[in-house]
Amino acid sequence: MGKSYHIAVVGATGAVGFEFLRVLERRSFPAAGLRALSSARSAGRSVQFHNEPIPVEELTENSFAKIDIAFFSAGGDVSRRFAQRARDAGAIVIDNSSAFRMEPDVPLVIPEINGEDMKGHRGLVANPNCTTAIALMAIYPLHRAFGVRRAFASSYQAVSGSGARAIEELKKQTEAALQVRQSDGLVLWRDRQVTPQVFPHPIAFNVLPQVDAFLESGYTKEEMKLQNEGRKIMHLSDFRASVTCVRVPVYRAHSIAISAEFEKKVSVEQAREALAKAPGLELVDEPQKNRYPMPLNVAGKDNCEVGRVRLDCALENGLAFWVSGDQLLKGAALNAVQIAELL
Ligand SMILES: NC(=O)c1ccc[n+]([C@@H]2O[C@H](COP(=O)([O-])OP(=O)(O)OC[C@H]3O[C@@H](n4cnc5c(N)ncnc54)[C@H](OP(=O)(O)O)[C@@H]3O)[C@@H](O)[C@H]2O)c1
Repeated sequence: MGKSYHIAVVGATGAVGFEFLRVLERRSFPAAGLRALSSARSAGRSVQFHNEPIPVEELTENSFAKIDIAFFSAGGDVSRRFAQRARDAGAIVIDNSSAFRMEPDVPLVIPEINGEDMKGHRGLVANPNCTTAIALMAIYPLHRAFGVRRAFASSYQAVSGSGARAIEELKKQTEAALQVRQSDGLVLWRDRQVTPQVFPHPIAFNVLPQVDAFLESGYTKEEMKLQNEGRKIMHLSDFRASVTCVRVPVYRAHSIAISAEFEKKVSVEQAREALAKAPGLELVDEPQKNRYPMPLNVAGKDNCEVGRVRLDCALENGLAFWVSGDQLLKGAALNAVQIAELL
């Protein structure tokens, strides 16, 4: 029999935490035991793991005794405060937050792309940003074929990317919006609904050209991650990416429209070939039959999908394409469990 591991999930009651438990079950991860950790708010509740109720405990400095692998998914502040405690207790930390991603001695890993980077880790491996991970699943195979130089992208990001409260916010606002009457000019629901709590504006029947906080440059933090994390993951220090991140009223799964420019001459046929054989990615590209990737089709699915592949009419050696992926899975829980499997 192989070795089994004692696992801690920090943020077990959150949107990503829930998926962690399902992914560990589904992939029969060799778990000798599971500790579910949250803030004091959820302590005392229970979560299900392999049909057993697991009591949720408040995260404290002593939570990591005898833990082999600690998955952190409770935000950057919690990771900054507790990841070192977990390492001191002998656990390997796989962190979902942005706290350590750009630290030079912390591997930032998508197993299908740079699993090799985990060699020599020092007890901490970072999981990439969810939009970055899904975009790179399609950009990287094309980079291998043609050498990517730069990309222009717009994201269409699901509300669950902002956690469990954001899912409730979309539900409540949608219920309010459904009361709309044509005689109200189709907009008066705006003023009647509950005040937004998670997002800065109503998200139901709306799109918000803001994900995360604005930087002085005018981009948001989220928008710079494709360039910054992409350089580290692809080992490509000159890679440039200009991104607009948009929140859309979709429950689950992010999509990204990308135009990328390459060193070598591109062809749609070769691009399709490279994408079709890339691990973790499926080519869904039959526009004549209205077949292309969509969030509804990839929600709950491990593989990302890519389609709408065409020569970009505004770039010299460019390809335009569209990729969708479940950000709670490939953008978070699945990728982290794949990292643990590699370890
Ligand atoms: N959602 C995504 O698609 C996604 C994708 C990639 C990465 N991430 C990252 O994953 C992390 C969690 O995201 P989420 O969407 O799952 O958020 P969420 O649904 O809001 O869940 C947050 C979790 O963290 C726990 N938590 C909050 N403050 C804590 C504290 N002080 N001590 C201990 N536990 C605490 C919460 O526990 P309580 O129940 O007690 O509040 C809950 O379990 C974030 O860093 C996020 O950036 C999210």
